[in-house]
Amino acid sequence: MGFRKDFVWGSATASYQVEGAAYEDGKGLNIWDVFCQEPGKIYQGQNGDVSCDQYHLYKQDIADMKEMGQKAYRFSLSWARILPDGEGEPNAAGLAYYDALIDELLRQGIEPYVTLYHWDLPYALHQKGGWLNPDMPRIFEQYAALVSRHFSDRVKYFFTLNEPQCAAGLGYYTGDHAPGLKVGKRDFFAVWRNLLLAHGLGVKALRENAKQPIQVGAAPCSALYYPASDRPEDIEAARTAMFTLPSRDVNDFIWSIASWCDPVFFGRFPQDAVDYFGDCLPQLTKEEAAIIAQPLDFYGQNMYNAVMVRAGKDGKPERVERYDGFPKTAIQWPVTPECMYWAPKFLYERYQKPFLITENGMSSHDWVALDGKVHDSSRVDFMHRYLREYRRAAEDGVDLMGYLAWSSLDNFEWAYGYSERFGLIYVDYQTQKRTWKDSAYFYQETIRANGDNL
Ligand code: BGC
Repeated sequence: MGFRKDFVWGSATASYQVEGAAYEDGKGLNIWDVFCQEPGKIYQGQNGDVSCDQYHLYKQDIADMKEMGQKAYRFSLSWARILPDGEGEPNAAGLAYYDALIDELLRQGIEPYVTLYHWDLPYALHQKGGWLNPDMPRIFEQYAALVSRHFSDRVKYFFTLNEPQCAAGLGYYTGDHAPGLKVGKRDFFAVWRNLLLAHGLGVKALRENAKQPIQVGAAPCSALYYPASDRPEDIEAARTAMFTLPSRDVNDFIWSIASWCDPVFFGRFPQDAVDYFGDCLPQLTKEEAAIIAQPLDFYGQNMYNAVMVRAGKDGKPERVERYDGFPKTAIQWPVTPECMYWAPKFLYERYQKPFLITENGMSSHDWVALDGKVHDSSRVDFMHRYLREYRRAAEDGVDLMGYLAWSSLDNFEWAYGYSERFGLIYVDYQTQKRTWKDSAYFYQETIRANGDNL
């Protein structure tokens, strides 16, 4: 037994990271266009103005996905391309671009998985307060309704927000991402509340306006944990670490999965969050809680690595420090394939939804070798190890829906600019030439074998 027969193999990107065409065909400004112009924010002052130019080269990129055997492409809509001011009159050329992209995907037998919001808020909405504006959930609802009315005749899979933790945490609390604000605790929780309500109203609007039955999920990220051994105490410690706050630090709240997913699935904040942050945590009315906890069809999660924990003397979770020289990727993230077994297992136990990895992958120092190929042996090994653990979760009874690799091709890695390459396909940003990396061939073989080669 391995992955189920209809397991979805695909890959993912996000609008600002791949599209380019930042100033074409009536697209409005978004917060990343503006943030990238601020000195010192992005590696070497780079930006997504051109990136891998998928706006013009989408047919070629889809042809590569098809040849690789991919069944799904998760991409995000640039809100400001569709609604230059974030609300009001849509931009016909923006809708036409996504029509063409979706139609081409369907022509090639690839299922579009559409994310409504992957961090590129229209700048006009930012000027009205952005996610601090209590009107944002309603504005997002209208955007979601428009998207559903326009695309749901062809699109069956939707996500509301990508990694709200980063949108709120990095965008408004640490200031590392657009819009680069460092607000206080109380305002941070207002952002969190508005994102939760936007998610819920978005789910509702997608469903109410759908032209056919659709499936809606979310794509959060979070800190993840795995046990140091198979001893029941260590497993319990890892499970506890996954769903409880280690401290009263707002950063711990941001990265704990329960801070986002408990409201989304259960309509309430976890008790420890209430105990620690009760003074400024949003008080949700019954109606608000019900809006936020709209039923979802599946559980999506972006995952890259995890922290090892064991049971301490008192049974409480204790982090196990990584030894010197612990394996890491180019961006310095640890290589911890165990997360692909334990996180789906813990998350499935708690939230009880078919499980989809919406992003997973690594950056490495890739280049085109003398033989014209890209030999990313570390990524091949990474995928092999990670997917093997993921298959183990399937064999242990976790209902795994699929796997979406991050990323379809190299692209603009936010504050790191073009210095980090996460793609299965190498992009030469001077010429826009695409070259399959060895990992792309490995993925092709894995898809063909439905993971039986692992
Ligand atoms: C994001 C992507 C990002 C990737 C690698 C995720 O946090 O959703 O946009 O490129 O991880 O950092």
